[in-house]
Amino acid sequence: MELMEKIVSLAKRRGFVFPSSEIYGGLNSCWDYGPFGVELKRNIQEFWWKEMTFREDIVGLDASILMHPKVWEASGHVESFTDPLVDCRQCKARFREDEIPPAKWEKRQCPNCGTAGSLTDSRKFNLMFRTFMGPLEEAASTIYLRPETAQGIYVNYLNVQATARTKVPFGIAQVGKAFRNEITPGNFIFRTREFEQMEMQFFVKPGSDEEWFEYWKNQRMEFYYKLGIRREKLRFKQHGPDELAHYAKAAWDIQYEFPFGWQELEGVHNRTDFDLRRHQEYSGKSLLYFDDESKEKYLPFIIETSAGLNRTMLTVLIDAYWEDTEHERVVLRLHPRLAPVKAVICPLVKKDGLPDVAEKIETDLRKHFPVIYDQQGSIGKRYYRQDEAGTPYGITVDHQTLEDQTVTLRDRDSLEQVRLKIPALAEEIEKRLKEA
Ligand code: GAP
Repeated sequence: MELMEKIVSLAKRRGFVFPSSEIYGGLNSCWDYGPFGVELKRNIQEFWWKEMTFREDIVGLDASILMHPKVWEASGHVESFTDPLVDCRQCKARFREDEIPPAKWEKRQCPNCGTAGSLTDSRKFNLMFRTFMGPLEEAASTIYLRPETAQGIYVNYLNVQATARTKVPFGIAQVGKAFRNEITPGNFIFRTREFEQMEMQFFVKPGSDEEWFEYWKNQRMEFYYKLGIRREKLRFKQHGPDELAHYAKAAWDIQYEFPFGWQELEGVHNRTDFDLRRHQEYSGKSLLYFDDESKEKYLPFIIETSAGLNRTMLTVLIDAYWEDTEHERVVLRLHPRLAPVKAVICPLVKKDGLPDVAEKIETDLRKHFPVIYDQQGSIGKRYYRQDEAGTPYGITVDHQTLEDQTVTLRDRDSLEQVRLKIPALAEEIEKRLKEA
């Protein structure tokens, strides 16, 4: 079985990700996050949030998904947020022109059914989802589901700056849903039509933008190292002049080597003053920043770091997946910081009072970190279930526990087991979580 199939299967089996509306046959490219998935996603998001907003120069924002339609005219999305769409007249498959191998495109040969001459010319397809505000479905009430969270930050930047009393250089961080009517969604949660972004927009004085760009590029790569992702699987890729988005002066992707090739995980962009200038023009409101030290007024330049939350979760799952052939088990070697559950507590048998002791340990440890209780099946099976779910520690209550109040603490990766007194458990696990 291919690695991606194994990941999709594990994700379902262990409650990370389910197909959306599964009982109705699913909905293409839509996924639901189960109990383990929602915790993993939240842990990634919280880690990102802390990395950003625990700094004195970055504050948070949560802007509305629906925005004034003029926002998207000003931002350039109505005009330029398009992909080149190509249809096959034979098998009705759809492609993005830039994804068709040049040799096939020359012959207009369909990559799906192989028929030469069956591909249409490419036409521009706008990726924004459209809907209507209010009861009338007419042009005047057309609005869009935001295709990026960034614009909510730009239109609020002076509100934030005035209330949080931030001074340039400063940043605004936001996590939220974005929607794109992708022509070719796929690869599980890699490219979907509904997804979450973790974006931070850093406002700087024009002229200092290139220096800050370098700074944020490096900071963002460090973030993925801290998530425990293997360094050799990460790299930078610079966008050439013909690849730059309509707003960018410079753009570098952080890429990960997925089973389907090197692909973008995050974009770091120098957006100059493009967005603020356009919003100023379209709204007729001044968006100038007043520098009270130099007494200058200017439009700040913006350095953007834009990461996909779902895509980061997929990366984390792929990178952590390990088949331990020696012990015939599958392990998700998640960084303990990200693991949805930190420890499983297992009574060795379902009798002799062991479940009572184990349940008491569960209740106590739950006050410190998320744990799970499991008494179903052999102890080996129970551990293997949790290895697959990435749970870093296992605690077994056995007959010796009744005599000396000790339990075994098992490490998911090394399989090392130590005996510890019950009252020492919380501190020991917390210490290990901190040191991981
Ligand atoms: N505000 C800039 C912006 O949106 P982008 O490079 O289009 O830049 C940033 O998107 C990140 O959002 C990508 O690196 C990716 O992680 C995530 N992303 C974009 N489209 C996505 C999709 N259809 N499904 C899942 N994640 C997506």
